Amino acid sequence: MKKYVKFNKEKILIVNKKYKLSRFFNPKKLNKELLIQYDKMWRQAQEDKINLHIVSGYRSYKYQQKLLKEYLRVDNIENIKKYLAMPGYSEHQTGLAIDLVNTESKLIKKHHKEYKWLYHNSYKFGFILRYPKGKKLITGYKYEPWHFRYVGKNLAKELYNNGDYLTLEEYFQLNNKKR
Ligand code: DAL
Ligand code: ZN
Repeated sequence: MKKYVKFNKEKILIVNKKYKLSRFFNPKKLNKELLIQYDKMWRQAQEDKINLHIVSGYRSYKYQQKLLKEYLRVDNIENIKKYLAMPGYSEHQTGLAIDLVNTESKLIKKHHKEYKWLYHNSYKFGFILRYPKGKKLITGYKYEPWHFRYVGKNLAKELYNNGDYLTLEEYFQLNNKKR
């Protein structure tokens, strides 16, 4: 039995392989606070000669269904689940997650200078690297150097300082059994 989405006591919205969103959870766009902080981060990045663009932001339940359908044409479901959230299980549906590309419109990768910059600066604007390397057993997803989740400055700083972007699952000691 899947549990519906969890706001923990710090009011952080938790969406993972265990806590899902209803198909009717539909904020329609990216969170306002996220956009304000992204704008500030973008400006700082520009000053540091780093170009950032959002390639994927808010995604509805239906849109995630469409993505799943597309991937199913070229991959099998077990593999897809390692990198794509099933409808209702994606942080993108919350309006609190963004996928970033660099100037060449390539998803941010580990060796990109944009990644290094984001790794050491995004937390100052309230973002965390949500699916860090080597945490697949905890988050349920492969490393995604391009996916950043907005959690606010206090928590972001805490996670950054606790080593390698501690995951929300580790920090809040959540069980996140694979579906
Ligand atoms: N790629 C991430 C896990 C998502 O689909 O939300
Ligand atoms: Zn993403």
